[in-house]
Amino acid sequence: MSSPPVSRPERTVLVGVTGGIAIYKAVELVRGLVKDGLQPLVVSTAAAQRFVMPLTFAAVSQAPVLDDESAWQASGGWFQHIEAARQARVMVVAPATANTLAKMAAGMADNLLTAIYLAFRGPVIVAPTMNWAMNEHPATVENLRLLAKRGVEVLPTEEGELACGEEGSGRMASPDAIRLAVRRALAGTASGPLRGRKVVVTSGGTRERIDAVRFIGNRSSGKMGRAVADEAYLRGARIALVTTRPAEGTPYPVVRVESAEDMAAAVRSEVSDADVLVMAAAVADFAPREAREGKIERAARDTLTLELVRTVDVLAATAKPGLFRVGFAAEAGPQLQRARAKKAAKGVDMLVFNDILAEGVGIGSDENEITIITATGETHVPRTSKAACATAIVDEIEAGLGAP
Ligand code: CTP
Repeated sequence: MSSPPVSRPERTVLVGVTGGIAIYKAVELVRGLVKDGLQPLVVSTAAAQRFVMPLTFAAVSQAPVLDDESAWQASGGWFQHIEAARQARVMVVAPATANTLAKMAAGMADNLLTAIYLAFRGPVIVAPTMNWAMNEHPATVENLRLLAKRGVEVLPTEEGELACGEEGSGRMASPDAIRLAVRRALAGTASGPLRGRKVVVTSGGTRERIDAVRFIGNRSSGKMGRAVADEAYLRGARIALVTTRPAEGTPYPVVRVESAEDMAAAVRSEVSDADVLVMAAAVADFAPREAREGKIERAARDTLTLELVRTVDVLAATAKPGLFRVGFAAEAGPQLQRARAKKAAKGVDMLVFNDILAEGVGIGSDENEITIITATGETHVPRTSKAACATAIVDEIEAGLGAP
């Protein structure tokens, strides 16, 4: 295969592909990177070519694929691994098999991909994929720990059905999650106040069990919290998203919970080493005293009385020195005064107010209109996307945290 085209380094992303079945998702990833205005330069191992032919990657990346065959051809006076390493800003290995991860951890360079990795000096992201037992093997765990310690971003694997037919953790992060990780690496969030800090974000409405099939819930979609988590991630934070809603395409870990009690337990554990807590979740204020066994029958019953008890106030229960806490107040009407009082009552550093009765915004919608109340003032964000609201919220969190 001929040498790669001359490319602009600020747009070039090296995409290493290895021999894992999740390689089919790498085709979608490469397409996505092109859509993002980037130039993927695919480097394929021999094992990868048993799954997907270089022609497929060449077609979607609109560039020749680099492989071991091309590796020994001098191009432009330099060997290909050095030239390829120089051309790119970011390197992604997706899928990253246990074998390639082990070689990267050991510093081996027995194929073009691992040689480029050693020669490359920019940010590296890996998306592991393998059978759950291989994933949990101490050798793999240790290799990933070592790579992470050296600054490689290791994307979490997803739980679910694996190609081998077994269930467990080992599915590769989704193309969307990898694209977000690439965006962050390219943004070079080297010195912002959130860089390296841990941010715990909650999202979605809790479900309080009545019986085996019924629950008390609310319409919160989890979109606002998700947008805040993504934005804080892009600014270099370490994220834990505690949510009641399915959260696909995240490059950071997600803890799924159901009830207020579950959420309180997950948040308590996650904030132990956190710097910021953003409580965007709509936590039920009351829950049935106890979930009934089986299903409550309708027959022989004209009324049904449920006894509800107050749930734990997660936000109030997590106050601790050094933890910057952000609350949300969804009020029925333009009750800014009530939101100000809530900020004081909850003792939070920041409160995000929105009026749930305002047209076209808030619960379930993709848009919101908010007022951010901080210790130093108030910022009104007129109706806009939840992503833009998240930008304003994270700006204020950064201002509140100050320099790292
Ligand atoms: N919250 C919480 N735990 C609860 C209830 C609410 O952590 N059991 C958090 C929410 O996530 C939100 C903030 O507290 O960040 C305010 O929630 P809100 O429902 O507006 O206020 P409440 O405290 O429930 O007060 P009220 O229902 O009287 O408005």
